[in-house]
Amino acid sequence: MSEGKILVLGGSGFIGHHLCARLAARMGEDRVVATYNGTFFSGGLKFDARAESLVQAVPSLETFSHAVILLANAHPDDCARNPEASRALNVTAIKAIIDQLAESGTRPVFASTEVVFDGYKGGYVESDPVNPILLYGKQKAEIEECLQDHVPDALVLRIANVYGSNPAGGGVIAGWHRTVAGGTETVRCARDYTASPVHVDDVAEAVIRLMEEGATGIYHVAGPQPLSRLEMFETLLGEMRRSGPVNVNVVSCSIDDFPTEEKRPRDVSMRSDRLMAATGLEMRTLRSACCDLVAAAS
Ligand SMILES: NC(=O)c1ccc[n+]([C@@H]2O[C@H](COP(=O)([O-])OP(=O)(O)OC[C@H]3O[C@@H](n4cnc5c(N)ncnc54)[C@H](OP(=O)(O)O)[C@@H]3O)[C@@H](O)[C@H]2O)c1
Repeated sequence: MSEGKILVLGGSGFIGHHLCARLAARMGEDRVVATYNGTFFSGGLKFDARAESLVQAVPSLETFSHAVILLANAHPDDCARNPEASRALNVTAIKAIIDQLAESGTRPVFASTEVVFDGYKGGYVESDPVNPILLYGKQKAEIEECLQDHVPDALVLRIANVYGSNPAGGGVIAGWHRTVAGGTETVRCARDYTASPVHVDDVAEAVIRLMEEGATGIYHVAGPQPLSRLEMFETLLGEMRRSGPVNVNVVSCSIDDFPTEEKRPRDVSMRSDRLMAATGLEMRTLRSACCDLVAAAS
C-alpha cells in the first residue's frame, strides 16, 4: 500500500464514489484507478465484468497493491428475480477477477455483506458460521469461501447496511429524509428487521486503514448499535424535529409486510470489535450522522 496503486472495481457506485474520493485525498489521484460500467465518471476506466476480462480493461495490473472489489448486483430482490444473471456477475465474473488478481500479485479486498448470516442470533462476530438465506447472501458467501480456500492474503469485509449524510446522496436515511421533506404523510417501517447501519465514510476509512495495516482475513464493518428499521427512522425524525415541526405518520409494521422476493433474515446486526482493535477506528452513531444530515439540508 505504501508504494503501490489501488484499483477500485465499481468506483461509480455508492461506496466506490466515497472510497475513491477519500483514497485520492490520502494517496494522490495518480495512485487510484477506478472502474465503472454504466455510470461514466471522468478518469474512470470502463469495465463490464460480464463481457471482458480484467486484464483487457485495466493495463499493468501488477502495479496495483490492492484491488477493492465493490462491483456487484447488490440488490437482493433483483438477484432473486434474475438468478442466472446475478450469478454471472456476483460469482462467475468475480471468480475470474480473483484469478487474474492472483496472477498479477494484487491483493483482493472483497466487499461482502451482513446477509451471509441467517439472522437468528444477531450481534455476529467474524468467527460465527455463515448460513445465508437470501440468494444474494449465498453468492457473497461462495466468494468468501473461494477466497478463504485459495487466496490466503485476501481481505474480506462484511459490510452492514450503508447510509450517508448527504441529503441528496445514497442510502436509506437520506432517502427517508427526502420522503419526509417532500411531504409524504405516512411512512411504514419494520420493527422486526435489525441491522447495524454504518456510515459510508466510516466504511471508506475502514477499507483504507485495513489496507494500510496489511490486514488479511475477515473483518466486520458495522455501525456501533443494532437498530430496527423503525428505530432508525425514529432517530432521523428526532433530529429533524429539533429544527422544526415534522408532520408524518409512522406506521410500525413487519418486514414481512413488504413485498420482497425472499423472506428476510430478522437480525443481521454485527460487531466491529476486530476492526476497531486493528485500526483504532471509532464508528459514528446514527444519531450524530442524522444531526449532520439535517444541518446540511437546512
Ligand atoms: N450499500 C450497502 O448497504 C452494502 C452493504 C453490504 C455490502 N455491500 C457491497 O458493497 C459493494 C458496493 O455496494 P454499493 O452500495 O456501492 O453498490 P452500487 O452503488 O449498486 O454499485 C455497484 C457497482 O457495481 C458496478 N457494476 C454493476 N454491474 C457491473 C458489471 N457488469 N461490470 C462491472 N461493474 C458493474 C456498478 O457500475 P455502474 O454503476 O457504473 O454500472 C457500480 O460501480 C457491493 O459489492 C455490495 O454487495 C453494500
